[in-house]
Amino acid sequence: MLYVDGKWVEEGQAAVNPEDRGYNFGDGIYEVVRIYKGKMYQWDAHLTRLYRSAREIKLELPWSMEELNEIASQLLQKNNISEEDDATLYLQISRGAAPRVHDIPSGIQPVIMAFVRHKARPVADMKKGWTAQLVDDIRWLRCDIKTLNLLGAVLVKQYAKDAGAQESILHRNGTITECSSSNLFAVKNEALYTHPADHLILHGITRQSVIDLAKENGIPVHEKPFDIPFLMQADELFLTSTTAEIMPLISVDGQPIGDGQVGTVVQKLQALFEQHINTNVLV
Ligand code: PDD
Repeated sequence: MLYVDGKWVEEGQAAVNPEDRGYNFGDGIYEVVRIYKGKMYQWDAHLTRLYRSAREIKLELPWSMEELNEIASQLLQKNNISEEDDATLYLQISRGAAPRVHDIPSGIQPVIMAFVRHKARPVADMKKGWTAQLVDDIRWLRCDIKTLNLLGAVLVKQYAKDAGAQESILHRNGTITECSSSNLFAVKNEALYTHPADHLILHGITRQSVIDLAKENGIPVHEKPFDIPFLMQADELFLTSTTAEIMPLISVDGQPIGDGQVGTVVQKLQALFEQHINTNVLV
């Protein structure tokens, strides 16, 4: 079952208003939340980011955090998500439907939509790593907002896929920002480097968990921009996201990173993350 604009709807029965601004303009926001063994991971952090995205696009959310909590927990119940299940919850809020003009119509009611999908953890991939392709960051200048406008991300991801890689690494004039749907970390001399959480990247929930875990465990973290030569000479690279978790990147544009194997620092972070999930989510 899906939750659509205040109603519970069977799969295949949901309808979109042709003048919904999410549909016409990508005018809306979203979150993707991980469900580990039937339990949501970092739900509060996702809600906080959702409210921030809403504020940044001048969208006033008519739902309290408690109401959104209730929708999410009913969604899990109605879809029989149990302790057996790894899944993702998708929640989107569009600005709503109104005759099509670019400026924001007054009195418009936001439209909420949410569903869950079974999604296995990428266990095998996390052991062997992905390959990546460098590409120009063609997106806009507010990548910190989790907006439905994802065409830039779609095109750069496809660029990587067409080149036979799993993810694209984005750069603006040679400065590395993030990936098409994940954050990027470089490892150099046992320290982590990642772009600061400003307007050029999404402030990833997994990125923050990794930064916290690294610091708690004596791994230095530098949140500062780095360039393409630094990227290519890194000892290790990895990306982070809700669905890909902590994913090693073993080559960029066909050139091996470090010795071209999954590195020891990323393996340590994966182990720490596993422990963290077991103690913080699955209890
Ligand atoms: N993507 N950067 C971008 C551009 C993203 O789209 C995402 C998430 C991330 C990682 O954020 P988090 O750790 O909070 O998932 C970074 C989601 C999963 C998606 O669009 O499917």
